[in-house]
Amino acid sequence: MNIQENISLKPYNTFGIDVIARSFVEITGLLQLQKILQLSSYPERFILSGGSNMLLTKDIEALVLYINLKGKSVVQETEDNVIIKAMAGENWHQLVLWSLEQGYGGLENLSLIPGNTGTAPIQNIGAYGIELKDVFVSCEAMDVATQELVEFSKEDCKFGYRDSIFKTTAKGKYIITSVSLQLTKRDHKLLTFYGAIEEELKAKGIVHPTIRTISDAVIAIRKSKLPNPEELGNSGSFFKNPVVSKKTFEAFLKKNPDAPHYALEDGTYKIPAGWLIEQCGFKGKRFGDAGVHEKQALVLVNYGNASGEAILELAHNIQETVQKQFKIKILPEVNIIR
Ligand code: EPU
Repeated sequence: MNIQENISLKPYNTFGIDVIARSFVEITGLLQLQKILQLSSYPERFILSGGSNMLLTKDIEALVLYINLKGKSVVQETEDNVIIKAMAGENWHQLVLWSLEQGYGGLENLSLIPGNTGTAPIQNIGAYGIELKDVFVSCEAMDVATQELVEFSKEDCKFGYRDSIFKTTAKGKYIITSVSLQLTKRDHKLLTFYGAIEEELKAKGIVHPTIRTISDAVIAIRKSKLPNPEELGNSGSFFKNPVVSKKTFEAFLKKNPDAPHYALEDGTYKIPAGWLIEQCGFKGKRFGDAGVHEKQALVLVNYGNASGEAILELAHNIQETVQKQFKIKILPEVNIIR
């Protein structure tokens, strides 16, 4: 089984938080996963994969299952479309680059998102006008209790903004083992309406964008705003953008007429948390090794040796200040492990 003891999880989480796993096992096969789940000596498990959307605040006593299942292939193909299946441990951005090399469209706007493929459905990753759900077909997951493989369709997953069944009713019950996505082979749907993409393409003098040039534009935008976890520990957006009722929004806009905002189809409004946090004066601030990124206030960073608690304390401070100043509640997007 190769269960290791007292392993530092610092290299396994993009925040770079140094906590210890009392016991740790790397999962590279489905049969191995089944066997591990049947071990009565380790009744508690903690599932880890890309570690890109979590804040660890203490040592992990449960058996850490590091999901590193690899493999990707085309499982169905027509003249227009293709369905690809990728195992959970495939790095997301490498999958995007591979799909672009094959000439498949659909993932270009989701370039350079940290993390692995298997965790992408959990929070329905999204950026620059698309979300995973827009290309998602299904995923397979192992039922922790029965060790059976179960298939979840798009409808089953109940995707929402940074949300899915795997964060709610199915939380902790399944381990996603693979994800299937439908991509285009021709007549790609190019999504360039997002302001930053338009500007980037214009700056590069690109009049007829392709899936490749859009991916390059997204990579350039992300690199200019978001810190590279290999250089500066972070977990992307720490908070979700709050969605408020029309009434709350109108009261807010009266006081803050210049605030950026997006009207949603159901009559509610999304307000960028990054803007709210910046207005509260947190952008670029550093408290010991915990800080708020200088170019994107939605991203909390670890300058080296911040503890999970220190990052959490900063997050609470930000939440309270935003609540006081704007009467708006902002909630974490990352999974806080206490
Ligand atoms: N803004 C500020 N100050 C800041 C940051 C943002 O005023 O420090 C303003 C911007 O000027 C802009 C607005 O807020 O008017 C939105 O900013 P941006 O386009 O950077 O996007 P975001 O809402 O901050 C979301 C996602 C990102 C995703 C981008 C692009 C969430 C929680 N975050 O950020 O996702 O890359 O849109 O689509 O929805 C992630 O989830 O980890 C992530 C990085």
